[in-house]
Amino acid sequence: MTAERGERDEYPGADGRTSRAAVAKRVEALLARMTLEEKVGQFHQGHNLGDADAADIRLGRVGSAIVASSATAGNDRQERVRAATLNRLQRVAVKESRLGIPLLFARDVIHGHRTVAPIPLGQAASWSPEHVRRCAEVAAREARADGITWVFTPMLDIARDGRWGRIAESFGEDPYLAARLAEAAVRGYQGDDLGDGEHVAACAKHFVGYGAVEGGRDYNTLEVSAYTLHNVHLPSFRAAVRAGVASVMSAFCDLNGLPVAASPDLLRRILRDDLGFGGVLVTDWEGVLELTRHGVAGDGKEAARQAFLAGNDVDMVSGLYRDHLPGLIRAGRVPPERLDEAVRRVLTLKFRLGLFERPYVDEGEAARVQFTPEHRAATLDLARRSPVLLQNRGDLLPLGAGIRVGVFGAAATWRGQLFGTWTLDGEAGDVPTLLEAVRKVHPGPHEVWHTANIDEALDWARQTDVVIVALGETPTRSGEDHSVASLDLPAGQPEMLEALHALGVRVVTVVFSGRPLVLTRVVRASEAVLLAWHPGVCGGEAVAEILYGLVNPSGHLPVSLPRQTGQLPAHYSFKPTGRPLATFPQAYRLSDERDSPLFPFGFGLSYTRFEFSNLWVDPEVPLGQPVRVTVAVKNVGERAGETVAQLYLRDVVASRTRPVRELRGFERVALEPGACRQVAFTLTADDLSFSDETGTPRLEPGEFRVLVGENSSVTLEGAFRLLAEGPQKD
Ligand code: GLC
Repeated sequence: MTAERGERDEYPGADGRTSRAAVAKRVEALLARMTLEEKVGQFHQGHNLGDADAADIRLGRVGSAIVASSATAGNDRQERVRAATLNRLQRVAVKESRLGIPLLFARDVIHGHRTVAPIPLGQAASWSPEHVRRCAEVAAREARADGITWVFTPMLDIARDGRWGRIAESFGEDPYLAARLAEAAVRGYQGDDLGDGEHVAACAKHFVGYGAVEGGRDYNTLEVSAYTLHNVHLPSFRAAVRAGVASVMSAFCDLNGLPVAASPDLLRRILRDDLGFGGVLVTDWEGVLELTRHGVAGDGKEAARQAFLAGNDVDMVSGLYRDHLPGLIRAGRVPPERLDEAVRRVLTLKFRLGLFERPYVDEGEAARVQFTPEHRAATLDLARRSPVLLQNRGDLLPLGAGIRVGVFGAAATWRGQLFGTWTLDGEAGDVPTLLEAVRKVHPGPHEVWHTANIDEALDWARQTDVVIVALGETPTRSGEDHSVASLDLPAGQPEMLEALHALGVRVVTVVFSGRPLVLTRVVRASEAVLLAWHPGVCGGEAVAEILYGLVNPSGHLPVSLPRQTGQLPAHYSFKPTGRPLATFPQAYRLSDERDSPLFPFGFGLSYTRFEFSNLWVDPEVPLGQPVRVTVAVKNVGERAGETVAQLYLRDVVASRTRPVRELRGFERVALEPGACRQVAFTLTADDLSFSDETGTPRLEPGEFRVLVGENSSVTLEGAFRLLAEGPQKD
């Protein structure tokens, strides 16, 4: 994997004013006029700035602000962004400070601004980069209209432990899927020209490895080998850098004995030199101060020195850069040239965003561009592709006319809860409940009853053909600082489901969640199960349309669903080991549970069926040449539908142990009944390579297997040999 240095290229969409050269010239001219304090001021990120901060802004001691009132903004509702407030602060910076350098206003627009999309884990279930890109673009447009120019998203941590609450913000367990969606998200947020007033600076976070926290416990320490870091946790960041991401956020966790925020090896050698990132690097909340709590810095001054020399340009809210960097520089403990290179990066971002030309936002714009029918339609498009149909016994779904339907469960009347974690600007009143949406599409003639009371439900169920049970976890059990010990449904929910099932009622269960819950009891007690994640503002509507067949479900799991919590980690790309499961049936890994997950990565049912056939692979390919793969996909059912053709690769013999399979290609395929299409994949040298523990890409000749199908466990298998001159692998 050669790390293309995305930063050498011209800025996308650049013109005479915003080209790399033009911006660099303006940056140098401004830098030459700045005092030491003004330079350091550009690194200080305040939070929830108000009029009390005007004096600091006037003195050039503030470079940016995060519009958030607390460190875990994702879980506490805050007042919405007000463009008028930001404009007022901006006028102080532009009109009243000596150099008039505009402020950057940042916010955690994690999956939508006013028009809230499914949580990123749900977006990943669409396996649709284009729909993810479009929703990011909608979020950017709406956030920019509120005066936000920097969003702390996409989160690119690879998450394989559902106990970790932040898996909700991730694109799931697989580096390749996360990388493709990272590219899409960055392009959506940033567009072709950061200065067009409709896009924002994106931020790839949390660099790197945060998803591997020990025990799934948030903020915990983590140990990841260099080999795993390069092959599992870095690819999504590499993809974001190649896509031109304007900023990166360093993780605040302790990785392999050193906090990431204090690691020049990670932040300078790997992120900047290897991956070629040239944008702004911001710490996570108080990440500088936390170096004292990690115990690697004795005081704030030492923490500031370590964090700055490690490569963090911007200090999110700790204030330690502003307090200590001027003295550290005057004392010669931080080289002045390091200061200037960091200031250049911050000023470059501000020039690219067009802030010197247009520092203010039109205060009427938000009302014009937020939650428009067009934005809602784009979000509904994605929400329709996100739910995963896990089970559909007897083809109970889709529901038809003339049947008596009841809806049971509190989640059926959820509004704001459907947003999921990290929703700061969504309005609960915008959200149709699942019950409202079902009643809207239900063809009658029977009325749809609803209750959240189990006794009523048991009573009414007796005169009902199908009961839709809406259950799952509320967002307060999901997201940052919300890790859990058990992936079971909240107590009482399985029992109520089983009580209904015991009546002999046919049950359709809709699960709302921010993580891969254990659904073993749900599957047993339901005819049909639809995993809807936290689906956003259009989620209720999308789910109802799927239940009644107006939309054919096409979501596929971005994360494996374990049979029980103790089965974790349950991801699909495990290593063969010296006692491979396939050849050593008795070498199961657990004596009290099967090895396979309840549902594998990539799994998802449809109301129709697809057949994969005629897998063809280039049989022999010279090293460095692309490998062509084709497969026929046919819709053998009665209704149009979409599936996701997935291509997995196995490097059979290599100089390092390689997983039994790894995703290396996918494509959504829409087919009318009876239609067949040939899907072609091309495996590049990048796809066939892996990194060794030094991060060096290794492309090695030998036998490879190709596995193609509609999930990671049911696949057609082919093989090819990568040819090279001279001896085989060492
Ligand atoms: C939080 C999160 C990070 C977020 C930041 C600002 O603690 O770790 O993802 O962007 O602080 O809210």
